[in-house]
Amino acid sequence: MSGTQAQDDLITASRPAPGIVQLNLNRPDKLNALSKALLAQLLDHLHKASADDGIGCVVITGNGRAFAAGADISDMLERGVASYVDTDRLGVWAAIEAFSKPLVAAVNGYALGGGLELALLCDVIVASKTAQFATPEIKIGSFPGDGGTQRLPRLVGKSFAMQMVLTGMMVSAELAERKGLISEAVEPDELLPRALEIASEIARMSSAITPYAKRAVNAAFELPLGQGIEEERRLTVEAFATEDRVEGLRAFKEKRPPQFKGR
Ligand code: COA
Repeated sequence: MSGTQAQDDLITASRPAPGIVQLNLNRPDKLNALSKALLAQLLDHLHKASADDGIGCVVITGNGRAFAAGADISDMLERGVASYVDTDRLGVWAAIEAFSKPLVAAVNGYALGGGLELALLCDVIVASKTAQFATPEIKIGSFPGDGGTQRLPRLVGKSFAMQMVLTGMMVSAELAERKGLISEAVEPDELLPRALEIASEIARMSSAITPYAKRAVNAAFELPLGQGIEEERRLTVEAFATEDRVEGLRAFKEKRPPQFKGR
């Protein structure tokens, strides 16, 4: 790990509301650059959230003035391509991608390079109006390598994605909102309250069903339309087998709030 920070506090975890874990990237002196150690701790917390039936949604945000300013440039300089193809590092990205519960990114400042790619793996992105987004890798002789070149165009279209990737330009939260990169830009002091409000709404739903909904929407970014519709049908049929599916229908019929059990 670059830097002198203790290895055990690169992520701080809290339970700000029922059903929610909030994970703060905590390497503020390095603008939360995604060192191997930080990513490993993030994964550890995600595994815990995954195994905890009481958790319905995870919020990721950053301490200090950044969400995350990208991959750790010092590590890349020291280890060269080994820092990129590191199987542990790649495994973390794959595991975040496969994380089944909904993830909300609360982008508090810079979301650059790998920081933006991390936000793009989240299911909902809310940002402070002071946040800035970029793929600045081109300025240091590189380009996004953790999903950015594939996910960005799917959200903002080819022309704007190319402009971002080829120039490394900073994009304000308001422009990011207009381009469909994020769902909402809010006042800085509203960021966490709003992210937690969205996360709480999600966590109140059936934790057996929200992962199905997440998989179905994600299929839209991965599959051609016909196959995506088939996948949606397959997941819908599978979800009918859950107790919560029946409870939701029954509660509506009986004009009462559903009592979801997460199964
Ligand atoms: N990896 C490692 N360290 C990083 C980093 C990264 N991606 N981004 C920032 N840091 C470190 C800086 O080296 C600096 O550390 P130091 O105080 O030990 O020198 C600290 O974080 C603060 O950054 P600094 O550059 O001094 O802040 P700034 O306000 O002047 O500039 C940025 C902010 C975001 C514009 C600038 O830090 C930057 O361009 N970062 C790199 C972004 C990038 O290219 N990301 C993609 C990486 S592939």
